[in-house]
Amino acid sequence: MEQTLSIIKPDGVKKQIIGDVIRRFENRGLSVKAMRMLQMTKEDAMGFYAVHKERPFFDSLTDFMCSGPVVVMVLEGEKAIALNREIMGATNFKEADEGTIRKDFASSIESNVVHGSDAPETAKTEIAYFFSSLDIMA
Ligand code: CMP
Repeated sequence: MEQTLSIIKPDGVKKQIIGDVIRRFENRGLSVKAMRMLQMTKEDAMGFYAVHKERPFFDSLTDFMCSGPVVVMVLEGEKAIALNREIMGATNFKEADEGTIRKDFASSIESNVVHGSDAPETAKTEIAYFFSSLDIMA
């Protein structure tokens, strides 16, 4: 079993598709092991996306991520990291496969509804950014 961090971004919360997004994860065998709604500050968002700090979109991305509440979750399942990324679809919704969350709901590369960890090491760091071990169900 593997765990990954999923975020329903401010655009997903505003579009009222929290339930639909979670339904898609659960339908594919991922289990929610921790979940919280929160509003990030600019500093929170900058810390979370620190790996992107040299990228031209960093300022806009971090403004967007603190523009409204997000839902953060720990998802667990077989190959959870890759499976979550498959269910989300490509970062750029224009390249996302049919039936993926981003194909169906994203409106730009920035407003792309969901974030998911990209590797085991990042999953560990990203989960610890929002959750303590006590928050995560066995
Ligand atoms: P995410 O998986 O959350 O990781 C970083 C985010 O930066 C990405 O999804 C996009 O929403 C956002 N982003 C904005 N512009 C770009 C871009 N040009 N290339 C890649 N990611 C971008």
